Amino acid sequence: MFSRKITPDIEIRLSLPKYADEIFAVTDANREFLRQWLPWLDGTTSADDTREFIREQLQRFARGEAIHVTIFSGESVAGVAGFNQIDAVNGIGYIGYWLAEEYNGRGIMTRVVSDLISIARDELGLQKVDIRCATENHRSRAIPERLGFTREGTLQRAEKVYDRWLDHEVYALLLDTSPEK
Ligand SMILES: CC(C)(COP(=O)(O)OP(=O)(O)OC[C@H]1O[C@@H](n2cnc3c(N)ncnc32)[C@H](O)[C@@H]1OP(=O)(O)O)[C@@H](O)C(=O)NCCC(=O)NCCS
Repeated sequence: MFSRKITPDIEIRLSLPKYADEIFAVTDANREFLRQWLPWLDGTTSADDTREFIREQLQRFARGEAIHVTIFSGESVAGVAGFNQIDAVNGIGYIGYWLAEEYNGRGIMTRVVSDLISIARDELGLQKVDIRCATENHRSRAIPERLGFTREGTLQRAEKVYDRWLDHEVYALLLDTSPEK
């Protein structure tokens, strides 16, 4: 397992099944908050669902297809983030994330995503990082905008979140691929 210190108080750790109970408790406590933008809440009703999801993510990690990390503030789970998909053929990493409501507004996710960009560049050797946010999800869009991503365009009706269709804004950051680096 790996872990990376983001600030003296914030750390990301590769998500492991032993974190499932706490991740589920945080998910359950933030169900209405997260449900605004994330489509999987109704299918996540027990810690076993979260444990199964983490196991799948670890299998994908082993195959080089994804990296799912848990964000800790001290010893408490604040949220999760990672590469939902790693396209090794084309060198593209697709980032996703969520934070418990009480941890919003502190710059935690911007710092975590900045660290994921370092992983993409220095550990994975990717050439592009992609973040997709619902057009109306201004808090999420602010993260790639703060980090200097370019907005590539809008995908219409890209995702069905319960009873509504959401358009997605596609943000991209090109990474330096020069051989000296
Ligand atoms: C999207 C989400 C992670 C954004 O969380 P967030 O707290 O706004 O993001 P950050 O952790 O980067 O914090 C940014 C905030 O901290 C503030 N901040 C404080 N110190 C900061 C710092 N050093 N650097 C950057 N921002 C800082 C910013 O001003 C900003 O606050 P503001 O929105 O009041 O201007 C969160 O709202 C969430 O999980 N939402 C539900 C799930 C979701 O939408 N997921 C994404 C799907 S695409």
